[in-house]
Amino acid sequence: MPRILVVDDEEAIRSGLAEILVEEGYTVEQAANAEAALARVREELFDLVCTDVRMPGMDGLELVERVKLESPETELIVITGFASLQSAVDAVKRGAEDYLSKPFDLDEVRLTVKRALEKKSLRDKQGRLERRVAHLSPGPTLIGRSVPFQKSLQLLDRVAPTNSTVLILGETGTGKELIAREIHRRSPRSAEPFIPINCGALPDSLLESELFGYAKGAFTGADKTTQGLFEAADRGTLFLDEIGNISLNMQQRLLRVLEAGELLRLGERKVRKVDVRIVAATNSDLKRDVEKGLFRQDFYYRLRVMSLELPPLRDRMDDLALLAGHFLQACAARFHKRIGGFSPTAMKALQAHRWPGNIRELENAVEHAAILCVTPQVELEDLPGELREKVVAIEAGGEPTPVTLDALERQHILKTLRECGGHRGRSAELLGINRRTLYRKLIEYGVARDEDDEDAGDDSPQPNPA
Ligand SMILES: Nc1ncnc2c1ncn2[C@@H]1O[C@H](COP(=O)(O)OP(=O)(O)OP(=O)(O)O)[C@@H](O)[C@H]1O
Ligand SMILES: [Mg+2]
Repeated sequence: MPRILVVDDEEAIRSGLAEILVEEGYTVEQAANAEAALARVREELFDLVCTDVRMPGMDGLELVERVKLESPETELIVITGFASLQSAVDAVKRGAEDYLSKPFDLDEVRLTVKRALEKKSLRDKQGRLERRVAHLSPGPTLIGRSVPFQKSLQLLDRVAPTNSTVLILGETGTGKELIAREIHRRSPRSAEPFIPINCGALPDSLLESELFGYAKGAFTGADKTTQGLFEAADRGTLFLDEIGNISLNMQQRLLRVLEAGELLRLGERKVRKVDVRIVAATNSDLKRDVEKGLFRQDFYYRLRVMSLELPPLRDRMDDLALLAGHFLQACAARFHKRIGGFSPTAMKALQAHRWPGNIRELENAVEHAAILCVTPQVELEDLPGELREKVVAIEAGGEPTPVTLDALERQHILKTLRECGGHRGRSAELLGINRRTLYRKLIEYGVARDEDDEDAGDDSPQPNPA
């Protein structure tokens, strides 16, 4: 049965409205001022709040705003005197659904309340549906068949469905955030929010207010009561990224929340319960930080109940070709290009690199190559400079490869084409040959196809059909 809270400082109006609503079968409560109403909204979930606008103390408009903030699901209707339509407009702007004018018209009250509640129930249903769809949709593809990565995935399988805190360790770009999202997606919390926060990027005071929320006036600039990320992630997962960079003081504060499942907003006394699963990640060596006194031992033990270590890319080189191919196809689709794969030399360059930036670096290198690539497969020249040097050095140190004149010509033509961004007209001009010759050679190299529009990728003027 829908629960309604009626707020008015005039007892007669308040109980009159409550009576009408009770007769309609709703569960109704009354509050004599906005402050009392807000206190009740914080304690319990109301489907609808009907509030007077002009009241001593906090007025109805402010109450609308505060309720929207504290309990976004609650619908609001304001009660206005006949003459003050403007305040009804203001209230709707601040989030009220509708308004009732005094003196009450019985039918109008019934209809307005019914409509507001129907709208709410529709919205609830839609919200549930959207969350369900998100829950059912397949997650991102986690690529990798190498033994070290498969070990991480097995651990993921086991920890994801539990409620346990998970600490994800790994160098930069190894996929920590991707794994954190996957843990949430495969957990019973998947229909609830997953909220990431980069703890390393915020100074203590900001991090504190972001995480715990604050009351209006708790500090300069706190101009309205705001819920923190812990509350926003209630029933879901909070992802504390770069946890290694937070101060000892913040570690202590976080530990208290994790142990008790309770928190205080800054500037408030009311203890709030939260049910949040924590997944944390770091690329620092926390154990060493504990030894050095930079990280609290108790917090470390609390976090690493389960820890999942992601291998650096250089320890899973078996996956490199798979990952590179995956990123290449994604880029090719995005840039509307047809790129079959990597030439053997390009692949050799990928394999020879140390990958300090891991998978993110690989993804960027492949994107770079896909943009430059004008050939059916990615060539060495398409890769970023630091990757090419290595292979050039390897080749220079090894046996010189016999070079035929044809191979040299092919190499030069393709290089020119690449430098011209694939524009055949400009390339032909630079090479001192006519476009038809260039085109014929490109077909020969497998770069252009017979049925290709000869001028595809060419910005030079088209010949007159006449
Ligand atoms: N196994 C994988 N399969 C496919 N893509 C992956 C995989 N692992 C990581 N990636 C991709 O690599 C990129 C970097 O991953 P992510 O941001 O999760 O790394 P990170 O460890 O959080 O990095 P940082 O330490 O810098 O924050 C992302 O674009 C991600 O989608
Ligand atoms: Mg990350």
